[in-house]
Amino acid sequence: MIEIKKDRLIIKPVSKVEGFYEPPPDKSISHRAVILSAISKGKSIVENFLISRDTMATVECLKAVGVEVSIDNASNRATIISKGARNFSEPECILDAKNSATTMRLLTGLFSSLPHLFVFTGDKYLVRRPMKRIIEPLTLMGSFIMSRSGGYPPLCIKGGKLRAIEYKMEIPSAQVKSSIILAGIFAEGKTVIYENGNSRDHTENMLKEIGSQIRVEDGLIEVSGDANIKGDFRFEVPGDPSSAAFMVAASVIAKSGELAIVNVNLNPRRTGFVEALKRAGADIQVNKKGMKCGEPFGDILVRSGRNLKGFKILKEEVPTLIDEIPVLAVVAAFAEGESYFEGLSELRVKETDRLNAVAENLRKMKVKVEVKNDDLLIEGKGFVEGSTLDSFGDHRIAMAFTIASLFAHGQSVLLNPDCIDVSYPSFFDDIRKIVSQ
Ligand code: S3P
Repeated sequence: MIEIKKDRLIIKPVSKVEGFYEPPPDKSISHRAVILSAISKGKSIVENFLISRDTMATVECLKAVGVEVSIDNASNRATIISKGARNFSEPECILDAKNSATTMRLLTGLFSSLPHLFVFTGDKYLVRRPMKRIIEPLTLMGSFIMSRSGGYPPLCIKGGKLRAIEYKMEIPSAQVKSSIILAGIFAEGKTVIYENGNSRDHTENMLKEIGSQIRVEDGLIEVSGDANIKGDFRFEVPGDPSSAAFMVAASVIAKSGELAIVNVNLNPRRTGFVEALKRAGADIQVNKKGMKCGEPFGDILVRSGRNLKGFKILKEEVPTLIDEIPVLAVVAAFAEGESYFEGLSELRVKETDRLNAVAENLRKMKVKVEVKNDDLLIEGKGFVEGSTLDSFGDHRIAMAFTIASLFAHGQSVLLNPDCIDVSYPSFFDDIRKIVSQ
C-alpha cells in the first residue's frame, strides 16, 4: 500500500476505506491558541494542540521573546506562562518561521506593537512568499518593516506605538486579516477592517471567546486598541478539517466502505470542500456536536462507491476551501466529466505554486488538465494512471497525490514526501488504519 523509502514513497493501489478516524488538531487554531495565550498575562492550557513543524515554529518564536511554553507530547497539551505581550523581550537571535506563513504573518502583526527589533526568516519556500500584503497595512499603523526587494522575507521589524487604521482588504486572506487584528488590539484607537470574502475567522472567534473587544458584522471587523486581555485560558482545539479532507476524499473515491470522522472543526469558512464534494455526487453527512474555541465541531460520515460527476468551484467560495483545492482537483480527476475551478490566483503564492503543481502531477497521471489564467479545467475520466510524482516541497500536494496514487491504475512513486510533517506528522499511520485492498 504505502512504503516509505528515504526520499520517496512507493504507493500501491487499494480499493476500500473503512473505520473510525479522528483527524489531528486544527493547525490554524493551534497557532492562534498559543499566540493568544502568550499575549495575555498568566498561565494558559491548550488541550489537543497540534505538534507539527509549523506550529512548533510559532512556539519557538514565542519562546524567543520570553514566553514559557512547554509541550507534553504524550497528551498533546501545551502550557503557556506569559507576562503578557507588553512584556515580551527583544529576541537575541533571528526568528525562524520555517515553512509557516501563519507564524511569520501573525507574529509580525503582533510584534509590530513592541519597541524592539525582530528579524524574521524562513525556509527556502517561505522566503519566496509575498509579505507586502502585511507590510503595507502594518506600515500605515506605524511599524517600520524592511524586507528583501519586492516584499519578500527575511523581514526586519522595528515596532513601536501603533495607531489604529481603517483598512479595506484587497486579498481574501485570514493571515493578513489576523496580522492587522493582532496589531490592532495593541494600537491606539479603533482599527476597522473591511473584509474581502469569507476567509477563515478563527482569530475573531477566539478573541470573542476570551472576552476581547472585537466586533464583527457584515464583513466589517472592529478591534479596540489597548486590550488588556487577562490570561488563564483553557482552549480545546478541535480536529483539522483540512487534514480530514484527505481522508474524506479517499473515502469518496474508494469503491467500497464507510468512514466515520469524529471531532472535526465544522466552521463553515473551512468546510466548503464538503459542499463541493456533495455537488460531485458524494454521500456525506455532517452532524454538529457542540462548540470548541468559539466554533462548531462534530462528525462527518462518508459512504464510498458513489458515481462521481464533474463539479464547479466558484471564485467566491475559494476562501472556504483554499487549502483543499489540490485534493478536490484529485477527486475531479476520478469523477466523470468536466470540472471547473475558478479564481485560483492565491494558489500560486502558497507553499509552492499549487496550481502548477496540481496540473503537472495530474498530467503525469494521464489526466487532461488546462490552466486558463488562474482557472483550472479538469476532464475527469473516472480513473488515473500510476506515475512518478513530486511533492514540490508542499505538504498538501504530497498528501493529495498520495490519495490519487492509492486509487490509481498501477504503482506510483511520490518524491520528497518529508514536507508532510509541516501539518500532519501522523498522516501515514492514519491512512494505513483505514485503507485496505
Ligand atoms: C491560514 C490561512 C490561509 C491558509 C493557511 C492557514 C491561517 O492562508 O491557506 O494554510 O491559519 O490563517 P491565507 O490567509 O493567506 O489564504
